[in-house]
Amino acid sequence: MPLSHNAFQLAVFGLNVSHGCTISTAEHGLEVNWAESVRLAQTADRMGLEALIPVCRWKGFGGASEFNHRTFETYTWAAGLAQATERIHLFATSAVPSIHPVLAAKQGVTIDHISHGRFGLNVVAGWNSHEVEMFGKTQLPHAERYALADEWMKLIEQLWTTPGEFDFNGKYFQAPRCYAEPKPRQRPRPPIMSAGVSLAGRRFAAKHADMNFILAPNLDAARETVSDVKRIAREEFAREVEVWGNAAIFCRPSHAEAIDYYHHVIEVHGDLVAAGNLLDTFTRESGSQSPDPELRAQYLRNMMAGYSGFPVIGTPDEVTTFLADMAACGLAGATLSWPDYGEGLTTLEAEILPRLERRKLRDRTRAAV
Ligand SMILES: Cc1cc2nc3c(=O)[nH]c(=O)nc-3n(C[C@H](O)[C@H](O)[C@H](O)COP(=O)(O)O)c2cc1C
Repeated sequence: MPLSHNAFQLAVFGLNVSHGCTISTAEHGLEVNWAESVRLAQTADRMGLEALIPVCRWKGFGGASEFNHRTFETYTWAAGLAQATERIHLFATSAVPSIHPVLAAKQGVTIDHISHGRFGLNVVAGWNSHEVEMFGKTQLPHAERYALADEWMKLIEQLWTTPGEFDFNGKYFQAPRCYAEPKPRQRPRPPIMSAGVSLAGRRFAAKHADMNFILAPNLDAARETVSDVKRIAREEFAREVEVWGNAAIFCRPSHAEAIDYYHHVIEVHGDLVAAGNLLDTFTRESGSQSPDPELRAQYLRNMMAGYSGFPVIGTPDEVTTFLADMAACGLAGATLSWPDYGEGLTTLEAEILPRLERRKLRDRTRAAV
């Protein structure tokens, strides 16, 4: 169930968290206030982009930028923006341990009705124990997080599709005489995205999601992930799933200016303390090895540029070519972030969308499905 008929779909990522996805003290980072959210959401809506995908964040990462310390809660944020927009899909990004599935299902349905069928759910298993503990819970081992997420999602799907009462008896959730009306406007249910790249994350996406949102170190790795996720979906679950990538755009009229811009935002003003806090938390939580110093420096740069999405640095032609290369890898779409969202959207509309149209990757006249 694609969000539109465009060959390459585009979403704005991280509009609800301070500094968005750019870990830097450079000027024009997102502030996170309601006027800003409405203005940027309406711009993306008018441009015909497919979706707004927020980040689920409860606590920031410190440093001089206080990266992500101001955040809007994603369901209520989507509900408010549903009233302010007309066509764009509004996702809530939901960390499984932070909300009971009965409440998540009900909030999702409510937004689906407010928006006349434009709600989407982005499920994340959750990784940050500082946040999990804020809910009075203990971080589960990685595999168990996905076992919990599997039950969480099954219950939501049943609430969205099962008429009348039903009993749900799981390991993590026991919900006798469950009931939910109304059902979603979108049938059989709103689109589901899931963000995760581990084998457990891929299987979860293959089983439950319409779109798997991934990170990859390079386009070759992305191509491999796309074919692996699609294979698992077909072979194990007889399903089709899209795979979406993530790109952090640094676009300027000339290549040299784009390099200078990246240098200014990341090399000069990048917040290594906040990025280090994020990377250390992630390394600890995922049980992965601390990377060697050179690899760590590269991880930190990519994290600062856009939450480890592909850093795309160049002219409008070069950015367009990179997005086309993403499409050629089999990615169905990209979530985008910029150091300055207002300026980024302006350049996207004026310079990049027309080029994507000329390459037949998008068509402004194609309405959302
Ligand atoms: C593209 C992407 C976006 C994510 N966004 C969030 C988020 O907004 N909030 C969050 O708590 N976790 C987020 N996560 C992390 C997930 O919670 C997940 O636990 C983590 O990626 C580990 O899953 P994996 O081992 O399957 O990759 C994201 C992960 C990916 C890959």
